[in-house]
Amino acid sequence: MTVTPTIRRLFAYCLPFLALWFFFAKESPYAKYTLLGENPQPTLCATDSHSATDDFPWESISPTEKLVWIDCYANQQCARLKVPLDYSHPGGASAAMALIRTPSAVPHDSPNYRGPVLINPGGPGGSGVDTVAAAGTLLSTIIGPEFDIIGFDPRGIGRSTPRISFFGSRAERQIWTVESVSTFSVNSSADALARAWARGIVLGQLAGKGDNGSLRFMTTDHTARDMLKIVQAHGRDKLQYWGFSYGSVLGATFAAMFPQHVGRLIIDGVMDSEDYYATKWSKNLFDADKTWMSFINGCVAAGPAGCALHAPTAAEIIEKVDKVYASLRKRPIPVQTDTSSGLVDWSMVRATIFASLYSPYAMFPTLARILADLHEGNGTTLFKLLEQPAFQCACDPAQYQFERLLDATSGIICNDGERVSPAYEDLVGHYGRLSETSSWADVWERPRMPCLGWPDFPKNHFRGPFVANTSFPLLLIGNTMDPVTPLWAAKKMSEGFAGSVVLTQDSPGHCSVASVSICTFIYIRQYFLDGRLPQPGTVCPVDVPLFPPSPSPDVADEDQAQVRFLNSLSAADRRLFEAATELVKMSPVRFLGGI
Ligand SMILES: *[C@@H]1O[C@H](CO)[C@@H](O)[C@H](O)[C@H]1NC(C)=O
Ligand SMILES: *[C@@H]1O[C@H](CO)[C@@H](O)[C@H](O)[C@H]1NC(C)=O
Ligand SMILES: *[C@@H]1O[C@H](CO)[C@@H](O)[C@H](O)[C@H]1NC(C)=O
Ligand SMILES: *[C@@H]1O[C@H](CO)[C@@H](O)[C@H](O)[C@H]1NC(C)=O
Repeated sequence: MTVTPTIRRLFAYCLPFLALWFFFAKESPYAKYTLLGENPQPTLCATDSHSATDDFPWESISPTEKLVWIDCYANQQCARLKVPLDYSHPGGASAAMALIRTPSAVPHDSPNYRGPVLINPGGPGGSGVDTVAAAGTLLSTIIGPEFDIIGFDPRGIGRSTPRISFFGSRAERQIWTVESVSTFSVNSSADALARAWARGIVLGQLAGKGDNGSLRFMTTDHTARDMLKIVQAHGRDKLQYWGFSYGSVLGATFAAMFPQHVGRLIIDGVMDSEDYYATKWSKNLFDADKTWMSFINGCVAAGPAGCALHAPTAAEIIEKVDKVYASLRKRPIPVQTDTSSGLVDWSMVRATIFASLYSPYAMFPTLARILADLHEGNGTTLFKLLEQPAFQCACDPAQYQFERLLDATSGIICNDGERVSPAYEDLVGHYGRLSETSSWADVWERPRMPCLGWPDFPKNHFRGPFVANTSFPLLLIGNTMDPVTPLWAAKKMSEGFAGSVVLTQDSPGHCSVASVSICTFIYIRQYFLDGRLPQPGTVCPVDVPLFPPSPSPDVADEDQAQVRFLNSLSAADRRLFEAATELVKMSPVRFLGGI
């Protein structure tokens, strides 16, 4: 099986949280890395595919306090909502939120119309506008045609202004990020952690230096207030919401701040908000190794036809991967393709495996092929997966004025969280403790790094407690093997919200949309439509295999099984199944992290 550009685009899709989001961003440092010294093309004035969804002239819409919708993208509508920059001075400077909606199929004056559902794809730093532009119709199929699906770029992010940006130009940012490549894993070399520490301090200082006074207002507290404004601008009083990953922090923050304004609220891929606001990032990886083992065990079960890395036992597969690690540790692999050249190294493999754990159903067969090829000393498959278009300087700065930046991710994390000690020894201690929770700690130190040198803003925004009697009970969704939001956190967060229920999806992957479970999606739809919650303790199975059978003598049987399965579904379930299948394909990067 070859890795096609389609897969790469998938990877450009859901980079859930942060660090990886940036790893696979369209212009990740890897792009630069692979092109260093090898890029003969002129770099000025070329456009790239990034602007595909950015053709809409956001700057031509004047932000207003009432929503004024304008047709945009494909059958969507866009608006800019004017909100206070600082809610403690509502008459002062303002911010503008970029909104998009996939309109309901039901007229707004119909008694069947059920109002807006707000979506947050995670990050922080993910763009809800990108998410809904790409997946609004699919989300509408799942949630129901009675609802408007609303995506918004949270303040500081993407097309919302003012934006969080630490660098004077795209080129400056690009140059800065080049080194992140070799230290993506803080265990990539003897001094990787120390260098990441120093860079974190510099980045935090840079944020402070460039700040004109608006940076401190880019918090989840303020974004929760913005969400209430969006609801009120729709002439409503209660929020309907589905938030993924970091979107669970935003949802829990809203529910705790405005319990009387909860209409329907789903948080999916739930983080421990207390750990997040403590800037610890220490409770995310509890199930990461289990998720990795689902790859190993799935590969054993899939057989040689289904999994390129197949071996009869788990131990043998682990041995193969260890051999890949050991070999790359000693010597990266030089690679040349038709379009670029560069190298594949240990950090790159660590990040690729970890990112694949977010989206197993979309990525595991490809990951197996990548690792099997690496085992044979061939780095081309991995290199091509991550190959990026050349970095382009913009002649017209307006061309990139709304691109999403990793700066926003750091800005929100560091503004939201407790101050982090800048002492190197404390970072070493943190890494040591994180390493005790998982073997994936080396790719999880990054999110809090810029907070080491962050400006000393007052911490007077909401940071808990996360307890409330909400006007409608929350639905929390957790997977049994989620690499970054363990089921434990969904259960913990549920304790604070009276009457809330945890729905468990029995699958690996990050958030429910990493897999196809008709059961899960029926519960989601019932919750939004009728307010019905699952029984506590409900576990939903998934309806697709982790390693789909590939062409083999048994193919006819498998096909028939699939056909029988599809035929057994009602028309409505089949639509859910098909929409969820499409979402899974998008899931690898864009859907959750938004790119
Ligand atoms: C501060 O900078 C941001 C861009 O980083 C800009 O959008 C905003 O208008 C500036 N605010 C002031 C008060 O100059
Ligand atoms: C760092 O990597 C080496 C292998 O190269 C491994 O033995 C060690 O356990 C790793 N350290 C941590 C803290 O993950
Ligand atoms: C590496 O693997 C790819 C895909 O499996 C294959 O097309 C290519 O020929 C291989 N390269 C080498 C040098 O073996
Ligand atoms: C929720 O309601 C219960 C019973 O009325 C009350 O004891 C509790 O203090 C309330 N919790 C919050 C956070 O308001």
